[in-house]
Amino acid sequence: MKVLSVMRMSVCVLLCLVFLGITSGYASEKCMTCHEQKSPGLYRQWKESTHAANGITCIDCHGANEGESDAFLHEGELIATLVTPQDCGACHEQEATETDNSYHATAGLILDSKDAYLAHVAGGSPVAIAGCEQCHGSKVVIDPDSPNKLARNSWPNTGIGRLNPDGSKGSCTPCHTRHGFDKAQARRPEACAKCHLGPDHPQKEIYDESKHGNAFYTNVDKMNLNAEDWVVGQDYYAAPTCATCHMSATGKQPVTHDVGKRISWTLRPPVSKHKENWEAKRANMKDVCTACHGASFVDGHYYQFDAVVRLYNEKFAKPAGEIINLVRKNGLLENKAGFSNDIEWTYWEIWHHEGRRARHGAAMMGPDYTWWHGIYEVAQNFYFKLIPQARAYNNPEVNAYLDKLLTEDPMHNWLSRESADLKSDIRSGKMQKVYKKLFEMR
Ligand code: HEC
Ligand code: HEC
Ligand code: HEC
Ligand code: HEC
Ligand code: HEC
Ligand code: HEC
Ligand code: HEC
Ligand code: HEC
Repeated sequence: MKVLSVMRMSVCVLLCLVFLGITSGYASEKCMTCHEQKSPGLYRQWKESTHAANGITCIDCHGANEGESDAFLHEGELIATLVTPQDCGACHEQEATETDNSYHATAGLILDSKDAYLAHVAGGSPVAIAGCEQCHGSKVVIDPDSPNKLARNSWPNTGIGRLNPDGSKGSCTPCHTRHGFDKAQARRPEACAKCHLGPDHPQKEIYDESKHGNAFYTNVDKMNLNAEDWVVGQDYYAAPTCATCHMSATGKQPVTHDVGKRISWTLRPPVSKHKENWEAKRANMKDVCTACHGASFVDGHYYQFDAVVRLYNEKFAKPAGEIINLVRKNGLLENKAGFSNDIEWTYWEIWHHEGRRARHGAAMMGPDYTWWHGIYEVAQNFYFKLIPQARAYNNPEVNAYLDKLLTEDPMHNWLSRESADLKSDIRSGKMQKVYKKLFEMR
């Protein structure tokens, strides 16, 4: 690890020397001298950064070549405002390649999603630009008439999957705030929290309520966040952050900028599925956990987590999907446009909001999200919104499906039984047996 990073550093320093050699025709200090006056805050962010300490200046990042579509003449130099992953990748090749291979890099490709349709029709275009695209990334459009060549409806934007004029995807600033570009900052949970929060993916809230969040905030001075290398169990041990579990090094794994490398389920879609090669990805994550926990403790966590995902899938998500299918198949929706009927919003919130919250809560040890903000709301909306809305169509095929589900499925037939009976089933363990298969499925 250390040897590698020293090697990488020397390559970088060499590259920079070459770079400085090329650009020395223009006094590159001119950028700093003027900007120290014109934008002193920005200048100081840079001045105190590792980049400044290593002689990386404004022009090393903002310098542009003739022919680049976003290049413009600024104080006698050709520069570009955007500094894309491709630009950073000139000196940080590995980070740029891993970022490009990650799911993050695809986050700008959302225009065909149901979410985007909903935002454009039920909301309106400004909310897609100032909402969705600020997290997912805009397609940055060139406007030759703008002083910096960037169209205002696509810039400012530092979305995680931004589509850049040079063809590269994403941006590095969502986690490495400019102009400090500090890795200590990116190691903190706040670095992910602009995007990973809210009703449909409350990872930050879940982390904050978990014992891990508690251990982090109460021990932050023991986290050694400024260390050069940050290997869990060696350089720090008080608590894991988002980066620890999803990106940072362990005794066996190097740092990765591909955030999907340790994830076995996808918890986003209506019905969760295992990812390709999921066993290996799960083993990568368990390797992180076992820096601080025993292996059987970690296995126990996955046993509980898997069962919640299957409970959501089997008891609620699949039947809810089937109900909506039958309603659509029988042409029962009153209005034609997607999302113009109440029942569509009910179904949407069951999987996209509370259904995700339950799964995320169970994945990352946030019990309040697993139950109160999660399955509790899934159940309430399933039994007391979706089913009554489907019943209201009074369609034989829909009714037959619901009757069968609610009388024959032992997970659902509680609705028509006596609570005294149900309580005795819980006490005797009979009720728990109904759910046993969820623990055993693969
Ligand atoms: C003589 C002063 C001066 C010098 C020299 C100078 N700048 Fe600027 N620069 C400015 C000012 C002032 C602005 C803000 C322009 C505005 O507000 O319209 C600016 C804006 C910028 C922007 C943002 C452009 C945008 O609109 O998005 C970048 C990037 C930039 N400068 C980089 C550089 C670099 C790199 C250099 C060295 C090659 C440099 N500057 C040299 C004064 C200067
Ligand atoms: C390590 C690379 C790097 C260095 C060094 C750097 N910048 Fe930047 N700068 C960026 C990135 C990244 C952005 C955001 C653009 C993007 O999202 O693509 C940016 C944006 C800007 C902006 C426009 C955004 C804003 O907040 O107004 C200005 C102005 C700017 N830089 C000026 C400078 C000046 C002046 C220096 C030298 C003191 C400098 N930069 C050094 C990477 C760098
Ligand atoms: C001209 C070469 C060059 C460019 C371009 C460049 N960097 Fe760097 N960067 C370096 C060097 C040299 C270091 C210090 C040695 C090291 O850590 O590898 C460094 C260090 C870093 C660090 C570690 C900082 C810390 O806290 O230790 C981060 C993060 C980083 N760069 C991000 C970026 C990002 C993001 C961009 C593009 C916006 C970028 N760099 C562009 C050369 C460059
Ligand atoms: C606060 C930041 C934020 C906003 C605003 C936002 N998203 Fe997302 N979106 C995310 C995050 C983070 C994820 C990934 C969540 C996860 O993995 O659990 C995501 C996931 C998605 C997915 C699922 C991708 C998949 O592969 O399953 C789609 C589609 C999507 N968003 C589209 C949109 C659209 C369209 C909008 C605007 C209506 C929007 N998002 C608004 C942050 C945001
Ligand atoms: C999703 C958040 C995120 C994004 C996006 C991101 N980084 Fe990082 N980066 C991190 C974290 C977290 C670390 C610290 C890892 C550690 O040391 O534990 C880091 C560390 C680094 C380092 C220091 C590496 C080392 O071993 O010292 C460099 C250089 C770097 N990133 C460059 C980049 C570049 C270039 C991009 C864009 C192509 C980028 N990062 C995008 C989160 C991110
Ligand atoms: C600027 C917004 C933004 C930031 C900051 C951000 N993410 Fe994401 N993240 C997203 C979006 C959007 C997605 C969904 C990607 C898609 O739809 O293609 C996502 C997806 C993910 C995934 C799922 C990957 C997979 O393969 O399924 C993980 C894990 C993740 N992010 C972790 C992190 C971590 C850890 C950090 C902080 C170090 C972070 N993210 C910072 C927006 C962000
Ligand atoms: C203790 C380790 C740990 C911490 C800390 C942690 N996560 Fe996770 N995260 C996990 C596990 C385990 C999963 C589920 C992995 C699987 O599917 O096998 C997960 C799943 C995810 C997913 C995928 C969700 C999906 O929809 O598929 C995202 C996104 C994510 N985490 C982001 C974050 C963010 C952001 C933070 C910090 C606020 C964070 N995580 C903190 C362990 C952690
Ligand atoms: C840097 C060390 C560290 C790492 C890495 C780590 N944990 Fe933890 N974990 C802790 C600490 C500290 C606690 C709090 C222990 C206590 O309750 O006293 C904890 C608690 C837990 C708990 C108990 C939660 C509760 O509410 O009682 C579970 C379950 C757990 N961790 C699972 C995991 C899993 C799974 C991973 C990997 C995905 C992981 N941890 C990674 C340090 C870590």
